[in-house]
Amino acid sequence: MIRPETQNDYSTIYHINQLAFDEREAEARLVDTLRQTSAFIPELSLVAEEEGRIVGHILFSHIHIETPHGNIPAIALAPMAVLPDFQNRGIGSQLVREGLAACKHLGHAIVIVLGHTTYYPRFGFSAALAKALECPYGDCGDAWMAMELIPGALAGIQGKVVYPPEFDGV
Ligand SMILES: CC(C)(COP(=O)(O)OP(=O)(O)OC[C@H]1O[C@@H](n2cnc3c(N)ncnc32)[C@H](O)[C@@H]1OP(=O)(O)O)[C@@H](O)C(=O)NCCC(=O)NCCS
Repeated sequence: MIRPETQNDYSTIYHINQLAFDEREAEARLVDTLRQTSAFIPELSLVAEEEGRIVGHILFSHIHIETPHGNIPAIALAPMAVLPDFQNRGIGSQLVREGLAACKHLGHAIVIVLGHTTYYPRFGFSAALAKALECPYGDCGDAWMAMELIPGALAGIQGKVVYPPEFDGV
């Protein structure tokens, strides 16, 4: 079952991120700090629950694209994590698919991810679509991908993607 997080889930979500990212705490801390910011969207911090146990988490947050004609709102997918013992069973895919559907339902048009080049394209993310968008973390290559939830949302848009400062150094 995929559902939005509740306050009771905070420590489990921290733990899942820490375990999935090889004991690194940066991503786990990122989720905790983003929760305190205006970039955080409670309905888009989703957990995967199996038999009453939370085994995965995904977060989508507000970001924007800075263009000469003004800022364009977008959504960042980051981070996502599935407990190591539960990986490769489709849980991550379900989190991404249901998360994107929730983004669309809330009216968001553009989603951006910096992530595994062989994983995210299966959900519709495209490096080609992100070519006109500057990655704020240097040359991100094909790991820098975008997706339109509303067809044409990125047409003609060129600019720099701005993440909340909490992402710096993660
Ligand atoms: C990435 C992750 C969330 C996927 O969750 P999952 O439940 O295992 O995903 P699914 O079962 O839906 O899909 C499994 C696929 O993910 C792929 N995958 C897992 N880790 C990957 C990686 N580091 N690079 C590329 N692909 C990866 C697997 O190879 C598998 O591919 P296949 O379907 O072609 O065999 C999970 O592996 C994880 O938590 N990894 C550690 C944290 C992480 O890297 N998060 C993403 C940051 S961008």
